Amino acid sequence: MAKAKNPFIYGGRVAGETFCNRQKEIKELLSDIEAKQHVILFSQRRFGKTSLVWRVLSEARKNGVIPIYVDIYPVSSLAEFIELYAKAIAEALSGYEKAMKLLKGLFSRLYLSMGLDAMGNPQWNVGFDRNRESESLDEVLMTFEAYLKSTKKAGVVVFDEFQQISETNGNKMEAHLRTAIQTHEHVSYIFVGSRKHLLQDIFSNPNRPFYRSGKIFPLGKISSEEFASFIRERFGSAKTAISEKTINAVLEATEIHPYYTQYLCHILYDIAEGTRIREEDIPKALDLLISREATAYMNTWDLLTLRQRQALVSLADTNPGESPFRPEALQRFGMSQPAVMMRALNSLLEKDLVDKENGNYQITDVFFKRWIRTYISQAPPSP
Ligand SMILES: Nc1ncnc2c1ncn2[C@@H]1O[C@H](COP(=O)(O)OP(=O)(O)OP(=O)(O)O)[C@@H](O)[C@H]1O
Ligand SMILES: [Mg+2]
Repeated sequence: MAKAKNPFIYGGRVAGETFCNRQKEIKELLSDIEAKQHVILFSQRRFGKTSLVWRVLSEARKNGVIPIYVDIYPVSSLAEFIELYAKAIAEALSGYEKAMKLLKGLFSRLYLSMGLDAMGNPQWNVGFDRNRESESLDEVLMTFEAYLKSTKKAGVVVFDEFQQISETNGNKMEAHLRTAIQTHEHVSYIFVGSRKHLLQDIFSNPNRPFYRSGKIFPLGKISSEEFASFIRERFGSAKTAISEKTINAVLEATEIHPYYTQYLCHILYDIAEGTRIREEDIPKALDLLISREATAYMNTWDLLTLRQRQALVSLADTNPGESPFRPEALQRFGMSQPAVMMRALNSLLEKDLVDKENGNYQITDVFFKRWIRTYISQAPPSP
């Protein structure tokens, strides 16, 4: 008999039965939206930010709030931002009665038209005078608020991959955006991103326009109990059994990282013979996972300096609670001063490859750490 479709999904947004829990976060974000509290939601990569905000937006819609989602990852100029956001507004409002007429009235610099994309699907086209970017930016930023005000509705805007803004004419865009949202009474904004370092600078640096302009919301782990029952149910939906002990071993290996947990379960399901997952298969599944991700790790590794690599190897071999500045760690790579290690760690923090919490340094990505331990640490790079 053919196997049922693999019940685990890794990569991209998950929804419905492939989305686990996050009840607390959903509730909190919904009440922030209601209170018009702007939020900065961040976590390391592939931790579930996008899936969570989509879920929140669909709940908000049920409460009568109009949601707009904009992923600014592909944006590399002010003009592209204006265009993308104007399109997102037009799309979000296109289902509402009289909205288009109102929109056209609100736009004086921008103009909208409906066309067809390469696949023949309808899509909005946006045009504006490229010599008047600032004015067009201000116009697009006030449009949604003005629409909501005149229709007495509430709205929420998500800017995903928001750190991209600092790569895109950063300060100018930030200043305009900040001025606009400060005066908005009908929209709440959620800024989402994975580059903790860049985001913290945008929102916590007194010299930048966004200083303290929203609530910082670090997205934490899903509880191990919730994830354990999710895993059991997902395997169950494909008529496959897994013991409590094996589930715990999976969660221990992935440190409950959502993407890696789904990935590992996906592989375990693929390699299982019969209808039971065996704990003995975990090491093989881990090897497979690491070998599939290895190219990405190598690409990251290749861009690092020798000192940065040494600091990572050292951290990969550092037990929780141990200092990376302990003498034997420094001696291992001939670092004459703690300052040498400090410099390397600081540059890794800036790249978000290392995270520092309560004074403890750790490698952000659990499987990057595992890859370093398995493939690099055995033959450490020497000066
Ligand atoms: N609540 C969840 N339940 C189950 N799996 C999840 C959950 N959230 C995330 N995942 C897993 O993590 C993967 C990435 O999720 P998502 O794209 O939402 O994360 P992200 O933080 O937005 O990632 P990125 O940093 O790449 O933007 C999903 O494909 C899924 O495998
Ligand atoms: Mg995302």
